Amino acid sequence: MRIPVIAGNWKMNLDRAAAIALARAVRDGVAMRPAGAPPVEVGVTPAYPYLEAVRGLLRGGPIWVGGQDLSPEKNGAFTGEVSAAMLADIGCSHVLVGHSERRQMGESAELCGRKVAAALAGALIPVLCVGETLAQRDAGKTAAVVLEQFESGVRGVAAADVSRLLVAYEPVWAIGTGRNATAAQAGEVHALLRDCAARNWSRAAADSLRILYGGSVKPENAAELLAVPDIDGALVGGAALTAPSFLKIIDACPNRAR
Ligand code: 13P
Repeated sequence: MRIPVIAGNWKMNLDRAAAIALARAVRDGVAMRPAGAPPVEVGVTPAYPYLEAVRGLLRGGPIWVGGQDLSPEKNGAFTGEVSAAMLADIGCSHVLVGHSERRQMGESAELCGRKVAAALAGALIPVLCVGETLAQRDAGKTAAVVLEQFESGVRGVAAADVSRLLVAYEPVWAIGTGRNATAAQAGEVHALLRDCAARNWSRAAADSLRILYGGSVKPENAAELLAVPDIDGALVGGAALTAPSFLKIIDACPNRAR
């Protein structure tokens, strides 16, 4: 059984007051879900300066807080970087790795693999993001690109750690464009990723791996995407910046606990 995850990636948005107000509204909205509502795991990844304030507000509740990136290094002279231990120290449980907006700035697949390993070594759950550009899709390279990002990202991950890993398939052409992948397009890539996970570890490990979809997920398209059996949740950008739309996406999750 894979409980869906709905995570809001706030990216470089909001100021302190807005981040706190949003966290509070999401917290209250999640708390008000009826007892019989389908179980959903909810998380948010605020920008570094607001992580601790948001974490404080959500402490003791069910919503996890994660960083948007981390250093592959443990500590030392790495100006501007933040380590896994620092994120864990302020109460983060998760961290995004290899978001396409970082890969586009030059982050390599190999570096993402080192970051995944650093996150796991630091007791954080990495959310490994993979996805192809429009040019790569048009050239028929989607499977090759996504699987190479995935395999490099999880190179150091043992089968026993797969339950401490999340993957997010985020086609670059769907991020912030309003143009989401169709349920069929996303489902196809999710199935490829799961088969790759089965080859890499085992079918049982692959069946336990939660693979989220990201890229213009909105209240209007969430139910259709989340109904795909291989889609185990969503990583949401723009629509996570207001509580009503984020909460509607949470409520669009099917009941996977049955
Ligand atoms: P949008 O939902 O704004 O397309 O962003 C998706 C994303 O990049 C989440 O990490």
